[in-house]
Amino acid sequence: MRVTVIGAGYVGLVTAACFADVGNTVVCVERDPRRIAALRKAQVPFYEPGLSELVARNAQASRMRFVEDVAQGLPGAQVCFIAVGTPPLPSGQADMSQVRGAAAEIGRCVDGPLVVVQKSTAPVGTVAMVQGIIDQEMAARGVQHWVRVVSNPEFLKEGSAIDDFTRGDRIVLGSRDERAVAVMRELYRPFNRNHEKIMVMDPASSELTKYAANTMLATRISFMNEVARLAEAVGADIEQVRLGMGVDQRIGSHFLYAGAGYGGSCFPKDVKALAFMAREAGLRAELTEAVDSVNQRQKQRLFEKIAAHFAAEGLRGKTIAVWGLAFKPNTDDMRDAPAIDLIEALLGAGARVRAFDPVAMDAARRLWGQREGLELVADAPGALEGADALVVVTEWHAFRSPDFEQLARSLKARVVFDGRNLWEPASVRAAGLQYHGIGRS
Ligand SMILES: NC(=O)c1ccc[n+]([C@@H]2O[C@H](COP(=O)([O-])OP(=O)(O)OC[C@H]3O[C@@H](n4cnc5c(N)ncnc54)[C@H](O)[C@@H]3O)[C@@H](O)[C@H]2O)c1
Repeated sequence: MRVTVIGAGYVGLVTAACFADVGNTVVCVERDPRRIAALRKAQVPFYEPGLSELVARNAQASRMRFVEDVAQGLPGAQVCFIAVGTPPLPSGQADMSQVRGAAAEIGRCVDGPLVVVQKSTAPVGTVAMVQGIIDQEMAARGVQHWVRVVSNPEFLKEGSAIDDFTRGDRIVLGSRDERAVAVMRELYRPFNRNHEKIMVMDPASSELTKYAANTMLATRISFMNEVARLAEAVGADIEQVRLGMGVDQRIGSHFLYAGAGYGGSCFPKDVKALAFMAREAGLRAELTEAVDSVNQRQKQRLFEKIAAHFAAEGLRGKTIAVWGLAFKPNTDDMRDAPAIDLIEALLGAGARVRAFDPVAMDAARRLWGQREGLELVADAPGALEGADALVVVTEWHAFRSPDFEQLARSLKARVVFDGRNLWEPASVRAAGLQYHGIGRS
């Protein structure tokens, strides 16, 4: 099939590359000059395991090409994905300007029958809104083509995006149009062979499914962070509690980790957007609002622990080593990452910070540039130079088994803050370090 994908971010580029890899001809439309310049050299402008090889292979085979605007990328397409950003507005509402912009461009350029696939995470009513914009633009041009908009939320996770896309649990399609659904079934056929994964539902249910799924996962994390606080107060260990809970098959072990709070480009904004949607519907999503506020508070937790530890001397003039900047391992995405809150709070308190992340250093430089008090260093040992304390914020594999004796020799105050409960407190203490985890009294 001939496929166009608008937006070559984490979702759009993975979608494009995976469809190209099974033989479709895919055009990616990307308006960001930095991203398009890299893509034209078959380079992926962000870190996602396996994606560079996939893009290079399909660009080389002429199954993928990259253009700057929809007018160049849409003619001849049978399916056009919208995979643009839907960042949060201050009210929590999803900013739909990129989706509206993409819809208008499609309406101005469409030249034949087309299924438009709304893949961006967007509130209930977006399919109807996109359809309305396209119809209006076609009417303004005096043309009439069969164009149908289908909701197809994306459930991939950064860090394992290709696997999630090609072997995901389900493929949700929100549409009442049989012909559009048939086109989508045909497009997804290579990823739907082992067993039936396609779930067809009405557009509103499909749109809400995505928000509900992300909010559920965020709820588990905030719940565990709340229980971690209680564990600290009453003398329990959240890691023992987590194991005791997770074996219960009604609960399961995923997303039960207490830590530095959830971040990334999805959970924080999707939780807020669900709460906003409820308010718009005249309801109050009390649980969802609490999930968000517990998380905001949790993102301050590491700073509070560090400040409490150094309360006598104060943080001014102290140097804190930070391991991990990305919001989770295997990505360079720093959107809403807990490391940002921590580092801003440390700098605000007069501390100096030496920070390292295995892949997010470019993202960190773009975020902070030259920032007084902050040094972005080349490797994990480099962060320890002259440091009083170490805090681990992202659970990269490379941080899981450091040489604690070496750490004890390097850190002036001989103290570590384990924001992801990666380490065994007893082994850390045996090396002569003080240990602070999350929810471990
Ligand atoms: N990142 C994830 O893990 C993930 C997972 C599931 C769903 N989602 C959702 O998918 C959507 C996209 O997320 P993302 O992380 O890929 O976003 P992103 O910000 O990385 O990428 C979006 C891209 O779209 C481009 N763009 C916007 N308007 C355009 C236009 N008119 N023409 C050409 N390019 C345009 C932007 O320049 C940007 O590069 C969001 O709604 C997000 O919530 C993201």
